Amino acid sequence: MEKISQEEFKKLLGSGEVLERDRYGIKVVETDDSHIIKTFRLKRLLSSAFFYPYAQRFKNNSKKLLQKGFKTVSVERIGYCREEKRYLVIYPKLAGETLRAIFEAEPKNTQKRLTELARLIAQLHKEGVLFRSLHLGNILLLSDQTLGIIDLSDMKIFSSPLSLQQRIRNFNHLLRYPQDCKIIDQFGMTRFLTAYCEAAELGTDAQKRLFSEFKI
Ligand SMILES: Nc1ncnc2c1ncn2[C@@H]1O[C@H](COP(=O)(O)OP(=O)(O)OP(=O)(O)O)[C@@H](O)[C@H]1O
Ligand SMILES: [Mg+2]
Repeated sequence: MEKISQEEFKKLLGSGEVLERDRYGIKVVETDDSHIIKTFRLKRLLSSAFFYPYAQRFKNNSKKLLQKGFKTVSVERIGYCREEKRYLVIYPKLAGETLRAIFEAEPKNTQKRLTELARLIAQLHKEGVLFRSLHLGNILLLSDQTLGIIDLSDMKIFSSPLSLQQRIRNFNHLLRYPQDCKIIDQFGMTRFLTAYCEAAELGTDAQKRLFSEFKI
């Protein structure tokens, strides 16, 4: 983890377009040389984020996902600025748009994209990845038309496939967002889970339990 001086911190965050901010300040910047800078605030001392900072988790998760063959960002730098009490993660921007933005702009390929998303989720689960920030704003449609994953700090990666309970929990993460629920409902939760099950290689019993969990 690099030490970032306050001067460098200000220079870095001032070097492009702000993509996200909250009441505490800038969260995500796209720099003029097509990098993304993400900042993480340390909310509490002696919390798990104090001992294992989100910036470090982001970097470790990125490395593991890339090793497993998923498309995601490759982290170039992580750092901490003591004066600002903020961690930074810097990575080259992936050329693409979030599924949420794509579905708003051009609904015509929604069915194809959601089938691909269901298959991607199945792949993540098979590889033991519990992506807690799973939602349509954290999946990019890349320029080669495949799907990529961003926002990697809140993720747990196990050495074996997820249990059925973990899989159900992860679908519930996705269904927390009304705008995403609406899109998946229009497509049909049955079709979505069917595409998932085809790729997930789940046993018949587990499939039945998954469907009944979502009242199908
Ligand atoms: N690698 C990338 N390539 C293209 N766009 C990106 C990339 N990373 C982030 N973005 C854009 O920046 C937005 C915000 O990034 P991100 O999802 O990482 O942060 P966030 O949602 O604000 O963070 P958090 O969920 O931690 O509050 C994304 O929705 C996307 O539009
Ligand atoms: Mg996000």
